[in-house]
Amino acid sequence: MRIAGLLSAVALGALALGAGQPQGRTPFQAKTLAFAFDHADHYPGVRLLEASRGADGHFHGRMTSDWYGTIPFDDATLSADGQTLAFETRNINAKEKTRPWTVTANAGGILLTGGIWHSNLHQSGRPATAAEVKRLAFHPVPLPPFRALAPDGQAKTPPMGWSSWNKFADHIDDKTIRAMADAMVSSGLRDAGYVYINIDDGWQGTRGPDGSLRPNARFPDMKALADYVHARGLKLGIYSSPGPRTCAGYEGSYGHVAQDAKTFAAWGIDYLKYDLCSGEWFYDNRDTVVRSYAEMGAALRASGRSMLFSLCEYGRFDVGSWGRSVGGHLWRTTGDITDTYADMAKNGFDHNGKPGDAGPGGWNDPDMLEVGNGGMSDDEYRTHMTLWAMSAAPLLMGHDLRLTSEATKRILTNREVIAIDQDARGVQAQALRKGDGTEIWVKPLADGRRAIALFNRGTSAATLRFTPQDAGLTRFASLRDVWNARALPESTAELAVPAHGTVLLVASGR
Ligand code: GLA
Repeated sequence: MRIAGLLSAVALGALALGAGQPQGRTPFQAKTLAFAFDHADHYPGVRLLEASRGADGHFHGRMTSDWYGTIPFDDATLSADGQTLAFETRNINAKEKTRPWTVTANAGGILLTGGIWHSNLHQSGRPATAAEVKRLAFHPVPLPPFRALAPDGQAKTPPMGWSSWNKFADHIDDKTIRAMADAMVSSGLRDAGYVYINIDDGWQGTRGPDGSLRPNARFPDMKALADYVHARGLKLGIYSSPGPRTCAGYEGSYGHVAQDAKTFAAWGIDYLKYDLCSGEWFYDNRDTVVRSYAEMGAALRASGRSMLFSLCEYGRFDVGSWGRSVGGHLWRTTGDITDTYADMAKNGFDHNGKPGDAGPGGWNDPDMLEVGNGGMSDDEYRTHMTLWAMSAAPLLMGHDLRLTSEATKRILTNREVIAIDQDARGVQAQALRKGDGTEIWVKPLADGRRAIALFNRGTSAATLRFTPQDAGLTRFASLRDVWNARALPESTAELAVPAHGTVLLVASGR
């Protein structure tokens, strides 16, 4: 018995390896198959593959993944030698709408190759037991119907603070966040108006038996951290995703939206950035993206604590036109900024949202500041700050606050520049002239004055001409050069602007 059993196992192994194998002895001969992956690639984390053969002889099935839940496939065809199943799946990369996959028989089970987004995957699977199939199954959760939310009176001016992402990515911990809160106060940045300390991606651990989300070991006690931040006159922000995984691969809120909102409220959180990330697999059209944000917006309102709601879906589906209706107070208008002039300028000049969408209660967000991170010159950082202030954009610093140089502090704490950003009228500047690498923007202020920004996007100095009429005035009664803190003659009609630089004026007149 034993010997016979051993022999047949060896024989099957040899057959699975290929050569001269009669059809009918590969895993693909079975009508249904299920394979588990013990060492799944982190992205997208395919844990299970199931398939069954239809009457047409083709296989239909699905993979179950950490990031995207169920990844279905249809019409998988078997190669002539019966060893390889090939199919295509939908992709989330506009350049490659579908991606090819193969499942090849090997001694222990199968080798799975394929890819999603821009990444490629290669991993070995073994037969899964029925219990594993049950345990690894993904449970889709439907979205509630859309219900518009009324404004809640928060964010009358653009939010100001700091976020961990640009400098630290997910290398963050409780100690660093506390140090940032301390530095916010000691540097004078808090008193200049920066009050939010926002923990971006990388704080999440796993879910407890009741499904509640726990921080990872780097954040031993979120409530204590919130108390620490609050005791310094600051507010604490946190980060999640409507998908199962955040962009850095941490636990997202999929299937736990109301529960997570309650958890954040119980910790004393004041701000949530909600980043689409793996949610883009599930929510890939306007209706579902809106509903997924509306679900969290409503959950925050029901949580019993006032929290700012920051929408991060990279400006898709004209977010500025519906951001307020889902309870959003700010919404990203574009992809991620980097600490380079080119990327900053792309976001700040060209992807800063529609001026008509911004105003008290809801703001276009061209992403967080890079000022102080070292990748740009002071002229370029002044342009960065000016663009954000003229756009009435959120001012969320992104550098190590402990290392704020005097030059950086002068840019970030210029009270006149901050006043333009925070102006109570909340109007986002319009670009009234663009050409030859120069732009003139005008922002009307609550007291009737006009902020006028002269931008030089070129790589050599330029002279920009302007008139009171550009700012909707017949003549200037006063003209102030904000960055240089000096009055200019009312007759000034042109000014030199350095390469990649800016002159920021505030004018009064009739
Ligand atoms: C996305 C966002 C970033 C940051 C990271 C975190 O890329 O756009 O701002 O939050 O995710 O993983």
